[in-house]
Amino acid sequence: GAPIEVDLTPIAEGQDIKVFWRGKPIFISHRTKKQIEDARAVPVSSLPDPQTDQARVKEGHDQWLVVIGICTHLGCIPIAHEGAYDGFFCPCHGSVYDTSGRIRQGPAPSNLPIPPYAFVSDSKIKIG
Ligand code: FES
Repeated sequence: GAPIEVDLTPIAEGQDIKVFWRGKPIFISHRTKKQIEDARAVPVSSLPDPQTDQARVKEGHDQWLVVIGICTHLGCIPIAHEGAYDGFFCPCHGSVYDTSGRIRQGPAPSNLPIPPYAFVSDSKIKIG
């Protein structure tokens, strides 16, 4: 599949969109300051799949989270802005991801994957 470009300007702070890349749902979240702070406040060593929030976003574009929206348990599509951590909730068996897309509760073994992407400008990304 070819790379896709996504214009971020219509996504207000606190909102998400879903796009498709290679048939996979990709969630793009415009995180609020609080969502970023929450993601960075948790001790990384306490996480089931320890990764810093900084490692999951692009430096200088910390408000943007881009993840593959496929639950790492058995592949359901999680719902954005649901669950105890204001991140993603998988309705199939109750996995809960945080505002960094990291697994926090439930049976999923790992964080939501990050697709290959890059910023082509401050308001546009290329996925793939
Ligand atoms: Fe998401 Fe099982 S597929 S919790």
